[in-house]
Amino acid sequence: MRKQIAAANWKMNLGYQQGEKLLDEILAADIHLGLSQYVIFAVPFPYLIMTRSEVEEEKNYEVAAQNCYDQRSGAFTGEVSCEMLHSIGVNYCIVGHSERRQYFNESNKQLADKVGLCLEYFITPIFCCGEALSVRESGGQNDFVATQLKESLFHLSPEKIKDIIIAYEPVWAIGTGKTASTAQAQEMHAHIRSIIKGHYGQAIAEEVSILYGGSVKASNAKELFHCPDVDGGLVGGASLMSAEFIEIIRALKRNAKL
Ligand code: PGA
Repeated sequence: MRKQIAAANWKMNLGYQQGEKLLDEILAADIHLGLSQYVIFAVPFPYLIMTRSEVEEEKNYEVAAQNCYDQRSGAFTGEVSCEMLHSIGVNYCIVGHSERRQYFNESNKQLADKVGLCLEYFITPIFCCGEALSVRESGGQNDFVATQLKESLFHLSPEKIKDIIIAYEPVWAIGTGKTASTAQAQEMHAHIRSIIKGHYGQAIAEEVSILYGGSVKASNAKELFHCPDVDGGLVGGASLMSAEFIEIIRALKRNAKL
């Protein structure tokens, strides 16, 4: 049974007290998740311990880091290792968000190393992929995303790839208010699943959760989550507003795929 997930990506937003207040408001909605449904808060590093203790009592509410480093340890001032994340009970980490690829030049190879280290430390990577507008306009999105997956994930064994969460985030839809249509999202998600199937077989492909990211909000979550290959969302802007994110969690809950 693959996981259905509403993941909040706070990015570099909110002060500590604002973050606490937002979490309190969301948790006060007291939404009980189904067996394979999860809410994950990807918060800034300094808020991880606070967030973990806020969600501790809540079933299937989890915490994620937004990034990790591609080396085990050592003289890398300012970086955070998977071992550090593991040592404070962080079980998820976003890897390869398009903003990291764009502003910090993260390559598919470097992301393969990060994915490997995450798994070594029992951290589930939320691996982001997705094409820029120019790629979509030239019709190259399928090949582009296939290369991202192959170069960063396909070194993994079938047992390991099953546990990866993939987030398809078309770069042209992130923070722009533009959402991929449900048809565009479903088409790409089915494509991603078929690439995994080609490499690992049908049974494994069916187990991998594929989230959609890019201007998910309360008003479009229900429709997006309803697509057969969309297993939830990675939500930026709308995750910073409690009322919006609560509705997104409700949309996930209503869409339970049994
Ligand atoms: P957005 O961001 O929802 O603000 O478009 C999504 C993301 O970057 O994860």
